[in-house]
Amino acid sequence: LKVAVVAGGYSDESVISLKSCELIYANLNPEKYDRTRVRILNDGWYAEIDEVKYPINKGDFSFEKDGEKINFDVVFNTIHGTPGEDGFLQAYFEMIGLPYNGCPFYQSALTFNKKDCIAVLSKYGIPHAQSVYINKGDNYSVEEIINKVGLPCFVKPNRSGSSLGISKVHKAEDFEAAMEKAFHEDREVLIESFLDGIEVSVGVLNFKGETTVLGITEIVSHTDFFDYDAKYNGLSDEITPARLTAEVEERVREISAKAYDCLNMSGFSRSEYIIVNGEPHFIEMNTLPGFSPASIFPQQATYAGITLTKLMDSEIELALN
Ligand code: DAL
Ligand code: MG
Repeated sequence: LKVAVVAGGYSDESVISLKSCELIYANLNPEKYDRTRVRILNDGWYAEIDEVKYPINKGDFSFEKDGEKINFDVVFNTIHGTPGEDGFLQAYFEMIGLPYNGCPFYQSALTFNKKDCIAVLSKYGIPHAQSVYINKGDNYSVEEIINKVGLPCFVKPNRSGSSLGISKVHKAEDFEAAMEKAFHEDREVLIESFLDGIEVSVGVLNFKGETTVLGITEIVSHTDFFDYDAKYNGLSDEITPARLTAEVEERVREISAKAYDCLNMSGFSRSEYIIVNGEPHFIEMNTLPGFSPASIFPQQATYAGITLTKLMDSEIELALN
């Protein structure tokens, strides 16, 4: 089975994707899969074999090597952010009839849009933070926003990952700078109230036909919030399983599986919640959770007793069915 392990992307998360790709590549069983790294980067699309770059034909995602045309049977996408986590590549693979792992293009686009994903889950009764949404060019009053969401609050790019462009704003005078930082990542900004509670990250996937909660990880950031440094430079404690009462743990499992099912998800996902008074409040869902050595999802798989090799097999099976 010829597998394209696709990595990179056009956003600032591409460096993380190149790391995720290596852990995934290493756990795709070489006895079953003929693996090729494919890069989708700002400087082009190419298969990379022994440091040689072979351009990808965008008509059918094939490439030529030694005069031979090579077609893939399936794609293992490891791109965080655009165009791998927001539906673009999924739609493209759909159009050319090439199976790919993870959720379909609509689920990718929906979950990558924090505002829209929250709006859908809210209809299913899943709690979330108070928020205000601003498009670039909209007139807004800082005072009105702060009156609604309170301080501190979070200012976030609506469509981004790895906490890039996010600020926790404690004082009104810091608000504009935070907006500017968020607009650097996206033309849509989401401002959310700060929820004072326990932060957890929950891996959920379809494993052997069942919606499976891999584990609940408690996040204790040493920084002001779970930002890029806390995520990737060790400035946080990630405790699996989270220190919750049996009752709260059950509630988190129930809500996480419900969110996954309501959105008709398939494949990997990892969602963030803040638990306030025993009730998990949805923050966001990632459909291509990080697989860097520092990332949470692989730790949760180990905790659940599922080897990464089995996890990759399951994703490929889902992609092909
Ligand atoms: N967006 C990063 C890679 C994550 O969710 O793990
Ligand atoms: Mg994210």
